[in-house]
Amino acid sequence: MKTIKVDLRSDTVCKPTAEMLEAMMKAEVGDDVFGDDPTIILLQDKIAEMFGMEAALFCTSGTMTNQIAIRVHCQPGDEVICDKLSHIYLYEGGGIAVNAFSSVKLIDGNKGRINAEQVKESINNKNDIHNPYSKLVSIENSMNKGGGSIYDFNEIKKIKQVCVENNLKLHLDGARLFNALTETIETPKDYGKIFDTISICLSKGLGCPVGSLLLGTKEVISKAKRFRKVMGGGWRQAGYLAAAGIYALENNIKRLKEDHKRAKAIGEILSKKKFVKEVYPIETNIVIFELPDTILALDFVAKMQEYDILCVPFGKHLVRFVTHLDFTDMHLEYFKSCMNTFDI
Ligand SMILES: Cc1ncc(COP(=O)(O)O)c(C=O)c1O
Repeated sequence: MKTIKVDLRSDTVCKPTAEMLEAMMKAEVGDDVFGDDPTIILLQDKIAEMFGMEAALFCTSGTMTNQIAIRVHCQPGDEVICDKLSHIYLYEGGGIAVNAFSSVKLIDGNKGRINAEQVKESINNKNDIHNPYSKLVSIENSMNKGGGSIYDFNEIKKIKQVCVENNLKLHLDGARLFNALTETIETPKDYGKIFDTISICLSKGLGCPVGSLLLGTKEVISKAKRFRKVMGGGWRQAGYLAAAGIYALENNIKRLKEDHKRAKAIGEILSKKKFVKEVYPIETNIVIFELPDTILALDFVAKMQEYDILCVPFGKHLVRFVTHLDFTDMHLEYFKSCMNTFDI
C-alpha cells in the first residue's frame, strides 16, 4: 500500500499556510527589546482586548509564559497547587524549582481537572513554619494529559472563590484554551475576569510556527518583561512571528471545530478495535487511548510508523494522537484504511 505521511504526535507539528507566510512577509517590524516593534504591539494589544485584560507579552513558548507567570507570582519557599498531570509540573524541566525556587502540591484530579474542595484542602497553614507558603493555583484548560478534557466553568469560578478567600493567585495554562472555548459558551473575557495570569499558545491548534502570549495586569506584565529578558527571551524583530499570531487569531479559531470532529472520528475507529482497552472521552483535538496490559505503547507507536503514521506513547500503555490544521479529511481517510488492516 502507498503510504501517506500522517503526523499526529502533536498539534505543534503543523506548518504555516501560504496565507500566514504572506502575512509574516508583509509585517512591519522594529526592535522589541526597545519596545518599538509595531506588529508585536498590535498582537499584544489585540489579545489583551480580546480577554479584557490590561496587558500581554509575546514570548517564545508556552513553557516560557507559564514559567514567567510562576516566577512573577512566587518567591523562594512558596508553593504552587496544581493537578499531578499538569504540564507545568511534568514537562517544564522542573522549572517551578529552577525559576521560582518553589515547591509543588499535587492534586489527584479528574482527568487532570482539580476542584475547589481539593484546592481548599491543599492550602497550607501559613503560621506553621514547617510548611511552604501556598501562593499560586494553576489549572490547565483544555487538559493535555486528561485527553484534551475541558473544565466546567462553574468549577473554575468556585476555585477562584477559594483563591480570593485565601489570598492565592490563579494562573491558567491555556495552551489550548481556544480549543476549550470552541466547545463551550464562555468567552475569552469571561476567563479574563477570573485569572491573574493566562498563557495562550499560538503554535498549537492556532497553527503558528512559534510563540505564546502571557496576559495579566500592567504591573504583572512589566515584571514579566524583565524575567523574559533574564531568560534570554528579548527577541528583537519578532514582529514577523507576531504577524503569524495576528493572522491566527483572525482566521484559525473557528476552524478548530474541524480538528475536534476528526479527533472524534479517530476515537470511533479506535473504540471498535480489539487491541484498544479504553478511549478517553474526546472533548477537543486530543485522543488518548489505553492498550491492554500485554501491549506496550512503545510497540504500538513503532508499528504505526510502518504505515507512516506518527503518534506518541503517553504512558506504559497509553497512546496519544493530536489532530491539527495539517490533518485533513484525506489524512483521516488514509488513517481509516490503515486501521482496517492494522493489528498488533
Ligand atoms: C498544556 C501545555 N502547556 C504548555 C505547553 C508548552 O508549550 P511549548 O511547547 O510552547 O513550550 C504545552 C506543550 O505542548 C502544553 O501541552
